[in-house]
Amino acid sequence: MRVLVTGGAGYIGSHCVKRLGELGYEVLTIDNLSNGNKWAVLYGELKVVDLSDTAKVREILKNFNPDAVIHFAASIVVPESVKNPIKYYKNNTENTLNLLKNLIELDIKNFIFSSTAAVYGIPDTVPVKETDPLNPINPYGRSKAMVEQILQDLSNAYGLKYVSLRYFNVAGADPEGKIGQAYRESTHLITRALKAAKGEIPYIEIYGTDYPTTDGTCIRDYIHVSDLIDAHLIALKYLLDNGQSDVFNCGYGHGYSVKEVIYAVKKVTGIDFKVIEADRRPGDPPRLVADSTKIKEKLNWGPKYDDLEFIIKTAWQWEKTIS
Ligand code: UFG
Repeated sequence: MRVLVTGGAGYIGSHCVKRLGELGYEVLTIDNLSNGNKWAVLYGELKVVDLSDTAKVREILKNFNPDAVIHFAASIVVPESVKNPIKYYKNNTENTLNLLKNLIELDIKNFIFSSTAAVYGIPDTVPVKETDPLNPINPYGRSKAMVEQILQDLSNAYGLKYVSLRYFNVAGADPEGKIGQAYRESTHLITRALKAAKGEIPYIEIYGTDYPTTDGTCIRDYIHVSDLIDAHLIALKYLLDNGQSDVFNCGYGHGYSVKEVIYAVKKVTGIDFKVIEADRRPGDPPRLVADSTKIKEKLNWGPKYDDLEFIIKTAWQWEKTIS
């Protein structure tokens, strides 16, 4: 079984390539290395190509003739998307549309899409369900919500089959310690807290302490990257077994506040780093927690690492191995 992975040299994509390789899938990665790393691709060939090069992508698809494509490649920084929306609509929406056009022309039918909880914007009710309204509040979320719309239309018109996975807050690293998050510059809470623990940054800021939550800080649903990859593998089997196009939340169904996460990072690392209470960061919903009933019931997804300290432990183990 052949699987083509876009963005396979990045944080989440590389964990997927590793798992596919371990399970004996024939895997090929396309990545432009803008935020990925060659060393992170542990199985199969890496083609260094930008998805905007549609002719080259087409040639690779034609030669490899995959049974399915898992599409991770995207720009993912929310504040950057506000400053530079064209980059997001180009990298996330236009490039995905061109990729899909190629898949349809080459009769490659199965597609797994990395969507995001950001498509919900600021949800009216939490935990949020797949059927709740999509009201993205920034270009990043909109660029992904547009792809979800495109996928529905292409699925209806051309018989493309897709699963769209809406990721909540992905964190942690490969429990074997071989790969992990290695962004040029990370904005994510757990990674920044670990960098403060390491002394790489002098302190961590808490963005807002006046939210309507128990301790005044934002609540998020942190999911271990390995459990998220399980969801991809299950979705892949589902599509290959003729499952119909569908959308699933990927989270654990409960959340932790920023203060709780920082407390847990201090506990796991044993380091009491400096924390500063700062103003709110624009565009942060107070609570973002998945209702994960659908993926559990329909795909039989059962998370293994629903444990904040374990998530942090694996991220810390990885963080200590990189400079
Ligand atoms: N935060 C801090 N200090 C920091 C970093 C983050 O207080 O130094 C806070 C944020 O304000 C937010 C929470 O910690 O309240 C989590 O922030 P992250 O940046 O780690 O993650 P986000 O929730 O903003 O976004 C992430 C992904 C998005 C995805 C979203 C879905 O980056 O791509 O999860 O939940 F859409």
